Amino acid sequence: MKEIKTIGILTSGGDAPGMNAAIRAVARTALYNNLRVVGIRRGFAGLINGDIFEMNLRSVKNIIMLGGTFLYSARCPEFMTESGVQRGTEICKEAGIDAVCVLGGDGSFKGAAALAEHGIQCIGIPCTIDNDISASDYTIGFDTAVNTAIDMVDRIRDTSQSHDRCSVVEVMGRHAGYIALETGVSCGATAILVPELPLDLDSVSDKILTSLRSGKQNFIIVAAEGVGDTSKIAEEIQKKVGIETRLTVLGHVQRGGHPTAKDRSIASFMGHYGVELLLKGKSNRVIVSQNGKIMDLDFKSAFNMTKHLDMELYRASQEISI
Ligand code: F6P
Repeated sequence: MKEIKTIGILTSGGDAPGMNAAIRAVARTALYNNLRVVGIRRGFAGLINGDIFEMNLRSVKNIIMLGGTFLYSARCPEFMTESGVQRGTEICKEAGIDAVCVLGGDGSFKGAAALAEHGIQCIGIPCTIDNDISASDYTIGFDTAVNTAIDMVDRIRDTSQSHDRCSVVEVMGRHAGYIALETGVSCGATAILVPELPLDLDSVSDKILTSLRSGKQNFIIVAAEGVGDTSKIAEEIQKKVGIETRLTVLGHVQRGGHPTAKDRSIASFMGHYGVELLLKGKSNRVIVSQNGKIMDLDFKSAFNMTKHLDMELYRASQEISI
């Protein structure tokens, strides 16, 4: 087993609150163990371009509470090609980087797995607000994003109530409904639309009409972006139930802001765990949380896993919000 001397850290894909806490934990754990640490700016794109700088204990001071990523992030289609990965490998060798910690989502882990195949020790730390990494119950950034969305929906409810309106609120999540489900449950949404279930606007409208008859006057519908055109959904609801309906697309506000305690602590722990794995000579591993326990899996088996929405929670939320 070759002993590692230098660890590189990069953040890739969509940023997520808590990434800075994870960077800090990786850097500090590595420096604590007398390793050299370098930061790689703008993900795999920065690696290919050699955008690399030395880090010391103070490089990561005062970042644990910040959203975004101070290493910057990017999506890099070039790293999906063999020549891109070869270039990245050469740069690692030139810069003396023995191991790389990749903070990102599934797409970023494909890049990490490819780099590992070329002999650079790699590990992945799951960071995405979408919580859509199959192997892990939890991804860094999700809790902050959901809390931001909840805060926004609570504000929307105030004005929705004043005007007896229906408010459709679109949240992020790409092809997954985790943000929508958690936000909808926590905001008491009348309906939660997720891409994992067929879109049934008739039953949403029936539910609104039934609640109207029982005296309810305003409605919150939380829709995941993956369900399709939410402006059409809002129009359709207005047409079907005859209530003034407004759409709010929350967008990137969900990706920013100070990470919550949960995101800071899990990021810190996963970062620390990741460096310990590398020190043990492990590579090609993704760090995951399963039933609240931090553990690691090889990338390939992690990619082959599937994750499901909590349908019991979904059902409960729908029975409560009548
Ligand atoms: O994966 C995180 C995410 O915010 C998704 O929820 C969203 O679909 C996507 O990224 C937006 O990407 P971009 O920031 O490139 O517009």
